[in-house]
Amino acid sequence: MNKKKEIKQLKPPVEVRYKEELDILKATDTGKKPENWVLSPKAVRTFILGSEKPIEYEGNKYSISKKYYGNDQLVERCIITLAGNRGLMLVGEPGTAKTMLSELLSAAISGVSTNTIQGTAGTTEDMIKYSWNYALLLAEGPSKKALVPSPLYTGMEKGIITRFEEITRTPAEIQDSLISILSDKILNIPELLDDGVIFAKPGFNIIGTANTRDKGVNEMSSALKRRFNFETVMPVNRVSLEKSIIINEVKQLALESGMDMEVDENVAEILASTYHELREGISSMGHRIDRLENVVMSTAEAVSVYYQSMISGYYYGDGVITMDSLVQNLVGAVTKDSKDELGKIRDYFNTVIRDKSEKEGGLWSEYYKAAKWLR
Ligand SMILES: Nc1ncnc2c1ncn2[C@@H]1O[C@H](COP(=O)(O)OP(=O)(O)OP(=O)(O)O)[C@@H](O)[C@H]1O
Ligand SMILES: [Mg+2]
Repeated sequence: MNKKKEIKQLKPPVEVRYKEELDILKATDTGKKPENWVLSPKAVRTFILGSEKPIEYEGNKYSISKKYYGNDQLVERCIITLAGNRGLMLVGEPGTAKTMLSELLSAAISGVSTNTIQGTAGTTEDMIKYSWNYALLLAEGPSKKALVPSPLYTGMEKGIITRFEEITRTPAEIQDSLISILSDKILNIPELLDDGVIFAKPGFNIIGTANTRDKGVNEMSSALKRRFNFETVMPVNRVSLEKSIIINEVKQLALESGMDMEVDENVAEILASTYHELREGISSMGHRIDRLENVVMSTAEAVSVYYQSMISGYYYGDGVITMDSLVQNLVGAVTKDSKDELGKIRDYFNTVIRDKSEKEGGLWSEYYKAAKWLR
């Protein structure tokens, strides 16, 4: 007998990961909704920023978790943009949750976050518009059946959001094929003589993301820029917020990978303050620090350093995260971008961490001792 096996996803999309929250919001949503939106702008906001008080549904109380930390008004502006006729472009430093925000917005507005074009140097116009199943095309000639829709085509046809990741990695002339789609909301398919125009349904829009470190790789044309509202996503600027993000994200990652291990809040705090101080160039005790200029010190990197150290604690250690592995992974993360910056981290340990270890003792002393891995 064929047993149906449950398929586990390594990284479930937002709409799967937060299915329960989305279902509850949908069932209790009383706000005004733009056509074809799954949730109202109010409920989309609650999904991303969390509920202030628990939501009552069928006699139970549910709270909606906060997923994006930082500027609440930015989230509101993004939602408003998507209800209008311009696209939304999220720009910012690497690891500032641009992709995460675009996934959350798509899942809450359209019910799917996976209708995505990944911009690369090799992205072609076909990948943005449509291509053909050549066997069918040769056998039957051009028809809708032989057409292979792109995520943009699908977005227009179904009235859902299309995400365009890392748009500035795509050559400018290819990016420009979006101009007419964003202005006229139609896609022409000249090969289909009678049925050659796709009209976008309400609910369709584009969320682009672009990394400011990639600036100059392929700038966007001003004609395309005018068709988007730009929002700059900034790095998290409070240690306590960064600590919460690390804890929440790592908990979720551990859960998804089946690792039964607690997240150590003190370690998360040490890591959050290291990332924050090296990014800002000043310590909580007032030391001036040489900022790391060629290295990405993003929250996403901090999450990854914690998670890597946790994995080694889980499989090699006795279920605890050690400062030795934390520093080893920190070195790995930093030297990936530039080996020259290691000296600055060493100086940071020899001043800030040394003073903190003398003042606070405990884990900070262990952290300071682990500086041997920086040599
Ligand atoms: N303000 C924030 N709120 C919540 N999580 C955040 C925030 N900033 C960063 N993160 C964390 O960083 C992770 C990575 O973010 P994401 O991949 O979306 O960044 P990005 O801006 O798209 O980076 P890149 O430019 O490298 O593509 C998120 O999944 C989340 O764990
Ligand atoms: Mg991204």
